Amino acid sequence: MSTRVFIPGDSAALSVGADEVAAALRGVAEERGLAVEIVRNGSRGLFWLEPLIEVATPAGRIAYGPVASGDVAGLFEAGFLSGGPHALCQGPTEEIPYLKNQERLTFARCGITDPLSLADYEAHGGFCGLKRAIGMTGAEIVEEVVQSGLRGRGGAGFPTGIKWKTVLGEPAGNKYVVCNADEGDSGTYADRMLMEGDPFLLIEGMTIAGLAVGAAEGYIYIRSEYPHAFRQMSRAVEIARAAGWLGPDVAGSGRRFDIHLRLGAGAYICGEETSLLESLEGKRGVIRYKPPLPAIEGLFGKPTIINNVISLATVPVILERGAAFYRDYGMGRSRGTLPFQLAGNVKRAGLVEKAFGLSLRQLIEDFGGGTASGRPLRAVQVGGPLGAYFPATLLDLPLDYEAFAAEKGMLGHGGVVVFDERVDLARQARFAMEFCAIESCGKCTPCRIGSTRGVEVIDRIAAGKDPAANIALLQDLCVLMTDASLCALGGLTPLPVMSALTHFREDFDRPQAAAAE
Ligand SMILES: Cc1cc2nc3c(=O)[nH]c(=O)nc-3n(C[C@H](O)[C@H](O)[C@H](O)COP(=O)(O)O)c2cc1C
Ligand code: SF4
Repeated sequence: MSTRVFIPGDSAALSVGADEVAAALRGVAEERGLAVEIVRNGSRGLFWLEPLIEVATPAGRIAYGPVASGDVAGLFEAGFLSGGPHALCQGPTEEIPYLKNQERLTFARCGITDPLSLADYEAHGGFCGLKRAIGMTGAEIVEEVVQSGLRGRGGAGFPTGIKWKTVLGEPAGNKYVVCNADEGDSGTYADRMLMEGDPFLLIEGMTIAGLAVGAAEGYIYIRSEYPHAFRQMSRAVEIARAAGWLGPDVAGSGRRFDIHLRLGAGAYICGEETSLLESLEGKRGVIRYKPPLPAIEGLFGKPTIINNVISLATVPVILERGAAFYRDYGMGRSRGTLPFQLAGNVKRAGLVEKAFGLSLRQLIEDFGGGTASGRPLRAVQVGGPLGAYFPATLLDLPLDYEAFAAEKGMLGHGGVVVFDERVDLARQARFAMEFCAIESCGKCTPCRIGSTRGVEVIDRIAAGKDPAANIALLQDLCVLMTDASLCALGGLTPLPVMSALTHFREDFDRPQAAAAE
């Protein structure tokens, strides 16, 4: 009987040599006449240990990492195929504290199964949610999602069930389900990991959404920087279609639902839902005025559900285990779990799925192990490039939509980027304005012109030119951009800028240029 060895085929693992490790392992096993079955699983999300290889033993899966191809012969010598001791051995995978202390609902299967094996997917609870949904009316499915308290994981946190209710309420006819897989936020990768590590889950979630609102077609819009996720999703769609989980008669239900994939072209603004719809229709990615909402006039002018990958991939567990099960996790109005993504200057970067309510400190210190440099943490940016910079004094803030909003920040898509004492927050503020200037779709003046003026004003402050007047001007500009921008790109750029100014004012206080000139 052959021994199963799991070597992630996820982009993060590939980028640090997982393919080379797989080739070396296959070579040594052949040389020694050992029967080894290599499974290219998704990543467990413990990036500092990648490539993290696992061996299936009678006592469960044993992990080794980070493994380089040069380590492979030594692993065989150490008897790793039966879980033998080695300097890289991490013990039973499920016992690694980083993993053991998580609450994985959406990512329950990621890294465990062969991502493209339908049999593996079903053996681990796959399609249970869809099977239940097939026996329900659209209104019942929508009500289950409403009751779960699920809010959009793409950034805005809008209640998913309410959005679906609007689409359900529109007259029958062509309706669409669009999955937003543009994942443009800095420090985020949960969408990519899920599409590469458990693609059938997204297919299942989209199909449930289609059944709920009476849509027969879905589109996944994937950013061009994710070619591997695109290939993996394309193959998963073909496999699901061939097995009858997609197509004219979904799982024998007599209902039609199919999925198409589209590749973006590298614009941050195409992650905003209305620009994304323009782009899907083959036009330039420019914001549409709202109203009408996409739920009423979306793709090709038809009622459209547009949701983030994680929102849609969370629906199957809600249908499978019930709204109350999911709602029991979390705090306040933030129900369920969020896959937080640790990045930047942190010792143990990776994906941490936890119920809302743990603190930033628990996330960064207990899971992340503090800064990678070992220097004191100075700032943390949560929520992507439009998120606020918080100082170490705010580390006890609970990870909750409302708690973050009260501190003029946001959770966004759950990206957490850590900086040590060497960061210059005036430079980060300038970067926020510059990013907005580069990525602006150009439709409204506060964003198109305001962001460029913002860069200039911060440059003057950094040069020590009349700082008091220029800081006042910057604050005024931020109020204007917040109040008058057409969409959240221009509207939220003031968050990182103002948080830098509020919490790290000393970085803006430069000696008067006049004195130096
Ligand atoms: C500039 C900008 C970029 C955005 N980028 C993304 C993105 O990459 N992925 C995403 O899911 N939502 C993104 N959003 C949010 C979407 O507009 C929209 O709220 C989301 O797709 C709705 O899905 P949800 O309710 O499941 O979160 C972005 C919004 C803005 C303003
Ligand atoms: S704020 Fe205005 S210019 Fe900026 S991206 Fe949105 S619509 Fe376009």
